[in-house]
Amino acid sequence: MELTRRAVLAGAPAVLAAQTRSQKLRVAFVGTGNRGSFLLRHGLDVADFEVVAVCDILPDRVDRAASAVAAKGGSAKTYTDFRKMLDEIKNIDAVVLATPDYTHRDFDLEILARGKHLYAEKPLALTVSDAKDVVQAAQKAKGIFQAGFQLRHDPHRNAAMKWIKSGNAGKVLQCHGIRHGGDLPRDIPWYFDKTKCGDIVTDQGIHILDLFRWAAGKPPVRCYGDGGTTLFVNDPPGRTVMDHYSLIYEFEGGAQINFSHHYFDPPGFTGIQERVFASGGAVDLIKAEFFPRTERRKVTLDVPDAGKDSTYMSLAAFAANVINGTRPLNDAQSALEATLVALMGTKAIYEKRVVTWAEITA
Ligand SMILES: NC(=O)c1ccc[n+]([C@@H]2O[C@H](COP(=O)([O-])OP(=O)(O)OC[C@H]3O[C@@H](n4cnc5c(N)ncnc54)[C@H](O)[C@@H]3O)[C@@H](O)[C@H]2O)c1
Repeated sequence: MELTRRAVLAGAPAVLAAQTRSQKLRVAFVGTGNRGSFLLRHGLDVADFEVVAVCDILPDRVDRAASAVAAKGGSAKTYTDFRKMLDEIKNIDAVVLATPDYTHRDFDLEILARGKHLYAEKPLALTVSDAKDVVQAAQKAKGIFQAGFQLRHDPHRNAAMKWIKSGNAGKVLQCHGIRHGGDLPRDIPWYFDKTKCGDIVTDQGIHILDLFRWAAGKPPVRCYGDGGTTLFVNDPPGRTVMDHYSLIYEFEGGAQINFSHHYFDPPGFTGIQERVFASGGAVDLIKAEFFPRTERRKVTLDVPDAGKDSTYMSLAAFAANVINGTRPLNDAQSALEATLVALMGTKAIYEKRVVTWAEITA
């Protein structure tokens, strides 16, 4: 089991498992918008996948998805209703779901209840109780549940995390993150409505917070922060999501997350940083570099799958997990903790107070 898990941590290609299988997994992609079409593009390169159906409520998006499948020599049936799709194509093994955040709880539950393996986009849900419902459903399910925290499978970040988890950097003291960029995509209206996306900590910041919670090895005990909307006020009209925030999370034993996220960044000015400071030195997760604390020296870590896209790696790991029955690195429990860390941060910002893990999980 441990060997298998290590192989998954290393992002072992599903190809290995395919050598002992004659049949591919029959996969359906539901929600073929911005993210779903990207998932499909990489899903078509996963050797163990056969894409048998695509579904979106918008017919032009389904047609585009079917054309992408055809361009790779496949053939996918098209649907605008995923329930009808699952009723009609009984032998679908797995679903890759990339519908808007506010649909996740209900769609996850329904697909899991039908016995399918499910790769579901983040966050788990927009409230604590809905997120717990997904975990409960995943625990009872016949199929495997893997959440769309693909950065865990990014070759550089994965190698850096292995370095940290092996103790090479010493005791984790502080995770420092910056996600500075331009505003959210204007052509996706629900991103600007906090009732639909849970606001930008839960919808966007969650990826880096998930990596940092993983680095810390446990959930935080409390958090505080500040944020709001100062540049993009009512822009686009009706906007209810923030355009900036800063959060500090504290862990038992003294470790800390310090995270700044905003949309004021001029192109190419700051960008994204994901750094873990530990007693023995600092690790740059994005570059997979280690800097010993007491020397002016850089260790470039070995990155076995350098150059491979994190989404491809994550889907390939999903295929391997389904075939081998192994636990995903980004399983329901880890996705729950990431979602709760994000909801906790959002609550701290909105209510301008310290919010505890005990309070959020009560
Ligand atoms: N992991 C990542 O890095 C990452 C990046 C971007 C988005 N996402 C996540 O992916 C999901 C989709 O985001 P997006 O940016 O693609 O949004 P989007 O609006 O571009 O795509 C969502 C698609 O779902 C379709 N849809 C809505 N209801 C549906 C239903 N009942 N059945 C079938 N299709 C339905 C929409 O028509 C749309 O095409 C969100 O959960 C988002 O958080 C993840």
